[in-house]
Amino acid sequence: MKISCLLIIKRDFILNEFKDKVAVVTGAASGIGQAIAEKFAHEGMKVVISDIEKDALFQTEEEFKQKGYEILALSVDVSKVEDVRILAQKTIEKYGVINVLVNNAGVGFAGEYSTALWESPLSEWQWIFGVNIWGVIHGIHVFTPIMLKQDFESYIINTCSIAGLITPQPGAGIYSITKHAVLALSESLRSDLEQFDSKIKVLALCPGFIKTKIIESERNRPEELYDKKITHPKLEQQIKMYKQIISSGISPNIVAEKVYNALLGEKFYISTDAHPLVRNYVKTRMEAILTDFKKK
Ligand SMILES: NC(=O)c1ccc[n+]([C@@H]2O[C@H](COP(=O)([O-])OP(=O)(O)OC[C@H]3O[C@@H](n4cnc5c(N)ncnc54)[C@H](O)[C@@H]3O)[C@@H](O)[C@H]2O)c1
Repeated sequence: MKISCLLIIKRDFILNEFKDKVAVVTGAASGIGQAIAEKFAHEGMKVVISDIEKDALFQTEEEFKQKGYEILALSVDVSKVEDVRILAQKTIEKYGVINVLVNNAGVGFAGEYSTALWESPLSEWQWIFGVNIWGVIHGIHVFTPIMLKQDFESYIINTCSIAGLITPQPGAGIYSITKHAVLALSESLRSDLEQFDSKIKVLALCPGFIKTKIIESERNRPEELYDKKITHPKLEQQIKMYKQIISSGISPNIVAEKVYNALLGEKFYISTDAHPLVRNYVKTRMEAILTDFKKK
């Protein structure tokens, strides 16, 4: 048999590895989360889609069911630990196991309140931290013990961002801080799990600019976290530019493909469209740190 033929058979065998496995995806009613959920379902996985935006969630459920996918839709606000507990409980009730958790829900990039850090109302910090950091903490806190108890190979994927690798990002400071935290959290989680010889693998998804509704995050801001809008005139152009870059970003389907392939491989950091400029920013930041460390 030819080598190419063998490779195809091996690839098919590997690709089927996740058939019938159970995945939970947060923020799955739009953008990256929706694309990941669809990719997983398309590959034969049973997928629990969860989101705060009910109409979009149940519409996604309907569309996925029409495509013949095995889907459970649950309305969940990841910033509330009780909601995340119910998410885990209902998943276990329906499917018995959890093979993959994707902590993906996120808000607040280039939104209407984006401005200089000291001008940002506290409600802005509370909202973005609540979803982007506490949402992931809740996922880790509730799901990791269940996955540890299962004692078989499982995966936790956290949606970080290239915004978690580079600073400064004028007008996107709070978002960037949360993404730095989620990346550090993912690295620490991986290390802790390795110390305990756990079978859980952690992956840090670091998308670049993806064409999604992230710039319309305001649609999901809780009423109690509204405040006076202020965007410093100096930053208006910058924020407009972020919106333009996202609007012409790559398709979330490309991200979903990369995530699925990363599950099959040995990657920890998943990049999507890491532009040479981004690599250069990361390098420049690290070099500046190391240079200052050397100074007396
Ligand atoms: N779009 C990009 O360029 C980009 C780049 C890097 C990282 N990311 C990250 O990707 C993730 C997905 O964002 P997206 O770009 O697909 O945006 P999106 O707005 O299209 O999707 C985000 C989803 O999260 C949901 N959500 C918001 N608050 C929630 C809450 N409290 N509980 C549960 N669900 C909630 C929204 O309803 C929405 O369905 C986010 O973590 C975001 O920070 C996006």
